[in-house]
Amino acid sequence: MTLRPAELIQRKRDGEELAGAEIAELILAYARGDVPDYQLAAFCMAVYFRGLTSAETFALTDAMVRSGETIDLGAALGRRVVDKHSTGGVGDKTTLAVGPVVAACGVPFGKMSGRGLGHTGGTLDKLESIPGFRIELTTAEFVAQVREIGLAVVGQTVDFVPADRKLYALRDVTATVDNVSLIAASIMSKKIASGADAIVLDVKVGDGAFIKTVAEARSLAEMMIALGRQAGRDVVCVLTDMEQPLGCAVGNALEVREAVAMLRGGGPGDFRELVLDASAHLLSLSDLEVGHREGRRLAEEAVANGAALAAYERWVRAQGGDPDEAALPRAPVVREVIAPAAGVVQRLAALPVGVAALRLGAGRATKDAGVDHAVGVVCRKKVGDTVEAGEPLAEIHARDDGAAADGVAAVAAAYELGPEARPARQILLETVG
Ligand code: URA
Repeated sequence: MTLRPAELIQRKRDGEELAGAEIAELILAYARGDVPDYQLAAFCMAVYFRGLTSAETFALTDAMVRSGETIDLGAALGRRVVDKHSTGGVGDKTTLAVGPVVAACGVPFGKMSGRGLGHTGGTLDKLESIPGFRIELTTAEFVAQVREIGLAVVGQTVDFVPADRKLYALRDVTATVDNVSLIAASIMSKKIASGADAIVLDVKVGDGAFIKTVAEARSLAEMMIALGRQAGRDVVCVLTDMEQPLGCAVGNALEVREAVAMLRGGGPGDFRELVLDASAHLLSLSDLEVGHREGRRLAEEAVANGAALAAYERWVRAQGGDPDEAALPRAPVVREVIAPAAGVVQRLAALPVGVAALRLGAGRATKDAGVDHAVGVVCRKKVGDTVEAGEPLAEIHARDDGAAADGVAAVAAAYELGPEARPARQILLETVG
């Protein structure tokens, strides 16, 4: 077949369904560098407006999996392997706590994570705030660490789903990230290529997420479950709130501290609930042969008896890091955001808090920029909390006074106070699959 990208773009633009082989050829040629960015950008925009059918989405996912190397962690370990993925949000440090909880329960957890981009944080940046932590392991080192320690989290190698790597960077700068089929194919191609038998997907919904409504989140969840089934994988999706940041801390070292606090049995309630629920799903999908309720009990026990914290420390040391909290960097300037009047927090918008953390230096404005691991925001008050006039709503951790002042103004604007009692939206909205 002779590939004619312009013809495929035109047919998709006009609402036609493309054959699986046509999509595969286009994507594999793009991954090889034989189709230029501008043609794939036009194709993604046509998909953004016209959508993809289930068959087309499967063909896209399958082609992305075939674009590079895959890892069969299950075969290497001789165990059923479980994995998790979040669609991205503000203050989402879930993997840092879920990994140690699951490993402490005797289930191997080997995960490839990404970096933050835009207002959403990435697990790799958070891990790199731990002095000495190495995120670049060879595939052999990764497998050996999961076998010996039960837990490893690494960056993706250049050969791992290269089509998604290129396509995601292109989508990010062409306003084509927030399409349900493109997100589903992007996430599931990485999960399938990393060899997980069962996958728990955390679909974030709300102001600080790519997906703004529960209806849209449900259709993304159903699509990812169908893609997983077609590839022979079990998938469960939890739809979780991202109207306000998850937990209190937003920013790399600040989030590591909060994850450690959770592993010590404390931490904010919404974050703890999500970690325990996601861990329970992972354990119930593992070869432990337990249900969700027993999985939850095991997860709670692993936190209460210190096994999860010990697993965290073993993991960090194995990847060259110092697990002592005192070793984490601290920002030189800390300023409070003060409540102008007494009231109840009606709203704490996740997006402006994420953007404020990004501008403080916690995230990167461009793909290749560095991040400041020490800076960020700690939201002391969340939706439904009562405050007195003059009480701190949040803390800004900054590199200098100017950045701190900008952060204070931006985070103050994210808060809305009012007189009436207001229950926060539950963190767990629903489970699909
Ligand atoms: N996360 C991904 O890995 N891909 C997307 O497209 C969106 C979120």
